[in-house]
Amino acid sequence: MEYTLGQSIFERIWVSAPSSTEAADGLGPLFNARSCVACHPAGARPQSLVDEKGVVPSLLMRLGLADGGPDPVYGVQLQNEGVAGVPAEGRVVLAFEAHEARLADGSGIELRKPVAAMEALAYGPLSPETKTGLRIGPAIHGIGPLDRIANDDILAGADPDDKDGDGISGRPAWLDQEQTKLGRFGWKAVQPDMINQNAHAFMADLGLSTELFPDPQGECTTGQAACRAAPSGASPQYENLEVSPLLMTVLDRFVAEAVLPAHGPQPPADPAMVARGKKVFAAAGCQACHRESYEVTWPVEAKAPRRISPYSDLLLHDMGPGLAEFLPEGAALGVEWRTAPLWGLRWALDAKGEGALLHDGRARTLQEAILWHGGEAQAARDHVAGLSSDERAALVTFLSNL
Ligand code: HEC
Ligand code: HEC
Repeated sequence: MEYTLGQSIFERIWVSAPSSTEAADGLGPLFNARSCVACHPAGARPQSLVDEKGVVPSLLMRLGLADGGPDPVYGVQLQNEGVAGVPAEGRVVLAFEAHEARLADGSGIELRKPVAAMEALAYGPLSPETKTGLRIGPAIHGIGPLDRIANDDILAGADPDDKDGDGISGRPAWLDQEQTKLGRFGWKAVQPDMINQNAHAFMADLGLSTELFPDPQGECTTGQAACRAAPSGASPQYENLEVSPLLMTVLDRFVAEAVLPAHGPQPPADPAMVARGKKVFAAAGCQACHRESYEVTWPVEAKAPRRISPYSDLLLHDMGPGLAEFLPEGAALGVEWRTAPLWGLRWALDAKGEGALLHDGRARTLQEAILWHGGEAQAARDHVAGLSSDERAALVTFLSNL
């Protein structure tokens, strides 16, 4: 019952205040989408960067300064929608830059990345110091168990100075000087836990206030007068917030328990191929970052711990110039990314094995995603580029069954 209620909040279409449905008003004034599900379709991720309406809503443009602060006028992200009387900040248009990667067997694969420009900026130019970064919305499945991994378990895998000399360091994403808050969610591990992640989504993506982010004006800055003056949906009935603590608890519980069905849209794979692919994964050294498993007690009230296999160390790695950008976020430098968990990949890909992988959705296939790896992952990437096409196919089969 509570789960269904949580799902209905995840799928709720919020409206602007004031409205006759007080429980669902308060959207904006600036926002990117009207519901959580608009960016996380069925809780999963989009399988392409564009659809018939243009750039998918799940692709956000993050903004920030080199010191980690927001753009003074536009804030931490570009909101491409506004309520009546509040101009949208602008919109993102994409072009693609392509090059060819060569494999040892002589074949070539086209790699392309989105290059974004911003149009129709309604509040003047961005600060000349502002850096940008595209982020695609990942699936919400598996967030609950990842939230339950003990900090010490993550720290056990860290090797910031590469003492073991394997070329792979892995840095914990400490968000504070005192090292009490360890980042684990988001492509750059900027959110310390699921509760913060969900509340931040309400604030920045939908413009709704919660206990953690109580400003009803969401992400409007002082440079955005109409936005600061717009009516809010906060009401005494909901503790002067647009999303009451009770509603938030129910939503958090839904996200914590969201799990994937066992089979994805791809045809069932031959178990022998999957097993062979898993061996290739190990031989290439992928598990140095994509750590297979952990023991967690999940759901919260479970009596005994269980083993989960997210395939991530939840640490930051230098992934080289191909994936780098200039925007630092949380503890992560421009070149650093959190190892993406690989579980649920079967739901990231369509029946043809295509999707929108990596932080900005640039990779259309698993093979492309691997070939973009560089920096600490260069050796693993080169290993895969040197394989026979049979072995590469086995690796792809293994990954698309996770
Ligand atoms: C406008 C699109 C958009 C909306 C609306 C949106 N999200 Fe997201 N979500 C994203 C993007 C993009 C990211 C990745 C952010 C990053 O890495 O910095 C993300 C990340 C997440 C994550 C973390 C996943 C991970 O693996 O680290 C969770 C959980 C999440 N969103 C839940 C929600 C909830 C709950 C709502 C509704 C309150 C919501 N989102 C609304 C786009 C959206
Ligand atoms: C040095 C650490 C490291 C190694 C080694 C590594 N990866 Fe990754 N992997 C990452 C990081 C970090 C990301 C996220 C990068 C981004 O989004 O820009 C990632 C992303 C991915 C993705 C995309 C996932 C998604 O959700 O979009 C796939 C697939 C993947 N890795 C497979 C592999 C395979 C296969 C190997 C071995 C050949 C490998 N990785 C080796 C760190 C590593």
